[in-house]
Amino acid sequence: AETHHHTFIVKETPCTRLCHTKNILTVNGQFPGPTIYARKGDTVIVNVINQGKKNITLHWHGVDLLRNPWSDGPEQITQCPIQPGANFTQQMHLIYEEGTLWWHAHSDFDLATVHGPLIIYPKQGTVYPFNKPHKEFTLILGEWWNKDVNKVLEEALQSGAEVQPSDANTINGQPGDFLPCSKNNTVKVHVEQGKTYLLRLINAALSNEFFFNIANHHLTVVGTDGSYTKPYATDLVFISPGQTMDVLIKANQHQNSSTPSRYYIAARPYIGNILVSYDANITTAILEYETNYTKISAPPLLSPLPAINDSDTVAIFSGGLRSLADKNHPIDVPQTINEHMYIVASLNIISCHNNSCKGPLGGRFAASLNNVSFETPQISILSAYYYSIPGVYTTDFPDNPSHYFNFTEDSNPTNYLTKKVTKVKMLNYNTTVEIVFQGTNIGPENHPMHLHGQSFYVVGRGSGNFDKKKDPLTYNLVDPPKENTVAVPKNGWATIRFRAVNPGVWYMHCHVDRHVSWGMNTVFITKNGKSADAKMLPPPNDMPPC
Ligand code: C2O
Ligand code: CU
Repeated sequence: AETHHHTFIVKETPCTRLCHTKNILTVNGQFPGPTIYARKGDTVIVNVINQGKKNITLHWHGVDLLRNPWSDGPEQITQCPIQPGANFTQQMHLIYEEGTLWWHAHSDFDLATVHGPLIIYPKQGTVYPFNKPHKEFTLILGEWWNKDVNKVLEEALQSGAEVQPSDANTINGQPGDFLPCSKNNTVKVHVEQGKTYLLRLINAALSNEFFFNIANHHLTVVGTDGSYTKPYATDLVFISPGQTMDVLIKANQHQNSSTPSRYYIAARPYIGNILVSYDANITTAILEYETNYTKISAPPLLSPLPAINDSDTVAIFSGGLRSLADKNHPIDVPQTINEHMYIVASLNIISCHNNSCKGPLGGRFAASLNNVSFETPQISILSAYYYSIPGVYTTDFPDNPSHYFNFTEDSNPTNYLTKKVTKVKMLNYNTTVEIVFQGTNIGPENHPMHLHGQSFYVVGRGSGNFDKKKDPLTYNLVDPPKENTVAVPKNGWATIRFRAVNPGVWYMHCHVDRHVSWGMNTVFITKNGKSADAKMLPPPNDMPPC
């Protein structure tokens, strides 16, 4: 196994999109940021140097940092931020994951521009579980605001109102052909007829879930969130913020002097409730064949994407993913469960002094898990836990909803205002955990719930209120997909299972960033086990001070 060293300099860099120029935070001046390449089994060491003007942290999304939460990154959860002028060296040992993951800032809305791919090839001496593709390419879906993203966040938090939607959706930072001042920079992918390509697809958007397709081309999903899946043939991919997908594409379009040589790669958001304001722009890139013929000058072909509120297509696509689960890629789905949790992910309202906020009913938007709206503490939870500092959090995060309503029909229950508190859930080492996430009818989207520190199996999902008697009978306990982010359906539920074998402090949150700033998050603390290799490592010497 190898060790890869990187230096990530976070700094402001001028950037122009949609005819507007602004300073954005970048890593090494690049947007999207640099790609980290490694093999399974390798170690990656990143020295993060903050030359920007604000506090930041970086996170390695989907890497199960065994016994080492210190390098995980979420601000005020596992570390205090890296201040301007300071640096912090983060280390990850890639033990479990293989495929596409990504890294991103984990402070405020910095992730909008501070993100990049993390590509993990098969372990030395092993190969892909599919024929080696001719070449590979990475596409990152994202969002662009003409305004400074942290101003957008600040304004929303001050007024209590919704966050202003983005001005464009993007592929590798570019809005594409249909947005103003963008056409010359549309991303182009060059292919040769008859060859197969591996697309590494990442959703780095702050809010938007995307439908994605390539005109006239079939897609075969072979991996998600850094684990292989059974080959899944589809014409369309649905991908939530935080998720990644490995997709094979065969360049099978016949080429001669009268056929088109350019095809749109396109993505547009899914919004479950079109009463709210959102950014519906289609973002595009171009798949272009290299041919010896004189190319016809027609515009690229575009295939239609599903309707913006097509929840059925979302459910069908998400329900089709299964783990590869072959003899070289065994899986280990917990069959018996020690800890059952039923967690309602909902949007709420918090009341404002004199009803003076600009959110609904003169209050401010909030979000919660089991009606607990997470309050971010001043000291990181990891250091409070490690050094036994009292008064930072309580350990009574509820296993069940505090009150039941008809989750999938009622509108906002105004009689249940939520409270902001810091409650965490403690887990014994080696406990098996099942969480049923219940989505509600409140708000426009799915909640892509993401767990740090360990991936989980998505054993079931369905629409409506979860039925304790019937729904578990539908669980897939044989080859469920292994993911780090599960899109909890609007008006539906999703069930995950994992075994808590990674001692440390692990954030769990919706990957829609504004929902995190409203409180849709909590923390799991997995206690040390008995043996020496079941204990958390000590902190590195250069931990940023609180
Ligand atoms: Cu992709 Cu907590 O993050
Ligand atoms: Cu959410």
